Amino acid sequence: MRIDVLSIFPELFEPIVANSMLGIARERGALEFYAHDLRDWTHDLHRTVDDAPYGGGPGMVMKVDILVPAIEDIAAMDSRLPHVVFTTPTGNVFNQDKAAEYAGRDRLLLVCGRYEGFDERAYALADECMSIGDYVLTGGELAALVIVDATTRLLPRVLGNADSAADESFSAGLLEYPQYTRPAEFRGQRVPDVLLSGNHAAIDAWRYEQSVQRTRDVRPDLLDLLE
Ligand code: ADE
Repeated sequence: MRIDVLSIFPELFEPIVANSMLGIARERGALEFYAHDLRDWTHDLHRTVDDAPYGGGPGMVMKVDILVPAIEDIAAMDSRLPHVVFTTPTGNVFNQDKAAEYAGRDRLLLVCGRYEGFDERAYALADECMSIGDYVLTGGELAALVIVDATTRLLPRVLGNADSAADESFSAGLLEYPQYTRPAEFRGQRVPDVLLSGNHAAIDAWRYEQSVQRTRDVRPDLLDLLE
């Protein structure tokens, strides 16, 4: 799949892509990733991407006459049409189902917001607006990285163990069960006997029970969703 991001801080992306599973996805040919500098579409000496809001008020607004040509040009860089996503705290909340949907697409373009947001007229080019949670970041770059990471790890050939994405917490709608590795005893704390039993039916049952219990304790809202 191809992912483009448009940002005023394009250099933030490469170190994370290069030093994570995203870099492996790229080496394996599963991910093509490009970070574009919005300032490349400016025409003035100061490379201005924002301006004061009409009507007054605090902060700056990202300029529609810079954003729209940038999005159009990036879209035209490949024969695949991108699904265009604006990152903003006013979007729908990103989740695992959305990551799976994106992993099934052949191209995404993530447009990162800064300042007080986008000029409202730029939203005409957005297929969707995504928030990564109910808090306000200083910009959409971290949100875009979250979306890229969660999406990429679901691509075929990215995770080493094909089962690990399918088996885990949010895919099944429950939180992950507790995991242990050696040693079997650490400072008096023993790994639950069932996990050492070799009885796979008993292990699966124990894990399911633990997942339900943990979800009930920490995220009862997820259980409501399953009903
Ligand atoms: N930009 C600022 N805050 C954000 C959030 N929570 N999600 C996505 N983009 C953002």
